[in-house]
Amino acid sequence: MSETPKRVTPVSLRKMKESRSPIVMMTAYDFPSAELLDRAGVDVILVGDSLGTVIQGKKTTLSVTLDEMIYHTELVARAAKRALVVADLPFPYAQLGPADAVRACAEILKQSNAGAVKIEGGEKRADVVRAVTDAGIPVMGHCGLMPQEIRKLGCYKVQRDEDALRRDLAAIQENGAFAVVLECVPREISRRLTAELAIPTIGIGAGAGCDGQVLVFHDLLGYHLPEEKAPKHARAYADLGSVITGAVQRYADEVRNGQFPSDENSF
Ligand code: KIV
Repeated sequence: MSETPKRVTPVSLRKMKESRSPIVMMTAYDFPSAELLDRAGVDVILVGDSLGTVIQGKKTTLSVTLDEMIYHTELVARAAKRALVVADLPFPYAQLGPADAVRACAEILKQSNAGAVKIEGGEKRADVVRAVTDAGIPVMGHCGLMPQEIRKLGCYKVQRDEDALRRDLAAIQENGAFAVVLECVPREISRRLTAELAIPTIGIGAGAGCDGQVLVFHDLLGYHLPEEKAPKHARAYADLGSVITGAVQRYADEVRNGQFPSDENSF
């Protein structure tokens, strides 16, 4: 009988930081992808609100709804046996304040069976992080570049204000966050900040000095048209775009020239 793998928890992530064991995190949005990531040994599966861009084809993450987050997180959480499943709190529940944020995070946990939520924001969202953790819901923070602030920022850019970042990270750590995503931060800054924090940092475009790394599923697997450029911080470990196009073209050719289905595929 196969043994159920030991589940990764917020506490295990803290231990991984202490033992300098790098945390591997990736996004996923559906059941089969999450099954494969879990089998490959990914520690944390993030159901990111990046689903707005990579799944829905939108320009930003702002339109992703709570129901959409719950729908995708439920698919992923049902598939993952070992990984900690973290769901993004979509815009604008954290911005509305602690009461709305707690209600939305509780709904995500109840309906999707996620293990934790991720909330964008530092000092400004300290009260939200406190309220959600006090409600018994583990919170992963997200500092540095915060895509939910894209309208204010104007464009996705590297965040270099070390003092502001330090204040943001201290605020969410003090208020109960168990880990934090650091997005688009110069590597020397994230190395210093990571060393100062007790909670693990998980970087995306934040260099090798973080306690872990996260990449978006589609960027890591090259799952897009060849002319679409992945962000500078991503590395493509496969070229699914070409694999899919090639396979579908072969199928189309074989249907058109009568090679598919063969007798083997028929009853
Ligand atoms: O939404 C997302 O996928 C994220 C990652 C980029 C960290 O927040």
